[in-house]
Amino acid sequence: MADRRRIAINTGGGDAPGLNAVIQAVVYAASRHGWEVFGVRDGYDGLLFPERYRDGLVRLDREMVRNISHLGGTILGTTNRSDPFRQCVAGPDGAVVERDRSDDVVARLRERGIETLIVVGGDGSLAIAHGLSQKGLCVVGVPKTIDNDLEATVLTFGFDSAVAFATECMDRLHSTAEAHKRIMVVEVMGRYAGWIALNAGIAGRVDAILIPELPYDIEKVADHLRRRISAERPYAIVVVAEGARPAGGKRTVRAAAQPGAMERLGGIAEVVADQLQELTGRESRSVVLGHLLRGGSPTALDRLLGLSFGAAAVKALADGQNDVMVVLDPPHITYAPLRQALERQKTVPPHGYGVVTARALEIAFGD
Ligand code: F6P
Repeated sequence: MADRRRIAINTGGGDAPGLNAVIQAVVYAASRHGWEVFGVRDGYDGLLFPERYRDGLVRLDREMVRNISHLGGTILGTTNRSDPFRQCVAGPDGAVVERDRSDDVVARLRERGIETLIVVGGDGSLAIAHGLSQKGLCVVGVPKTIDNDLEATVLTFGFDSAVAFATECMDRLHSTAEAHKRIMVVEVMGRYAGWIALNAGIAGRVDAILIPELPYDIEKVADHLRRRISAERPYAIVVVAEGARPAGGKRTVRAAAQPGAMERLGGIAEVVADQLQELTGRESRSVVLGHLLRGGSPTALDRLLGLSFGAAAVKALADGQNDVMVVLDPPHITYAPLRQALERQKTVPPHGYGVVTARALEIAFGD
């Protein structure tokens, strides 16, 4: 009898350029096996709140996904951080309490004859994926995050687009910084890992890079800029990851964590720009790139990664794998157990990342 497998795919967490390329490849690859693919609307909401949808699980065919690999966002509606294991509901006294509704997700999928789920997400979404596999679903994860902080894979898709855009912004800042002889401080995303700041900072020829992994001393940064700034180059550019903090100090938080919502970072660039202006006497300005790094069309690399990862996710299912994440291990695409892939974050090591880290340290703290 032909295998009439039905697969669901969902996108969770913050969006990243390349999501739609993954969806396209999954639909194309699955159709070669004669399998049907269903997209979950709005993270897990299409399954958790069926009453809100005409159809929370949309059947995706080749025609629907034919021309989407270049599009930003997700064709599955929205992506969000809603966690079926920790759904916020109003308690008896009106206070918000958390409820595990993961069984509802499994039940809704089974009602539609679906036993298999492809989860496209970062660490939070992939932890949920692992949890759902423990509930009996067959699950494959696809690594997505502009932060590139998943240890098991050399690259996540979305990262290259974020770095390319941030680099273009740094390039543009050189002329305006020079025209005003200013210090420009640019804030990029990067909650725990400074990969975007590090890569875009080096590519964009900045003067100092501040990352979460290396708490900074603002006096040293100011000294360093004083030495860098000259009559020939009367300006400086500093890139700071949103999660960076001064030695002995705290991260700059815009909003505290709420039930169902993580702490919102942001504002470090303004703090650093004000301090550098005071310490150097040079006019300083701050720019926050924030969500601009997640928007827009994926780069060629992210389209290719998304397509390859999507096809590899289907191959994993065809090979009988379960509870694994697709991994880029150049020149191969392989798989890692989800539990192992989630063990720790990939942060910038202070030593041992060869030239790149050495150069960043030199830029950040050296002469
Ligand atoms: O996806 C991770 C990330 O890009 C972090 O760097 C950042 O802190 C977070 O998303 C912000 O997400 P949002 O504002 O969408 O909650």
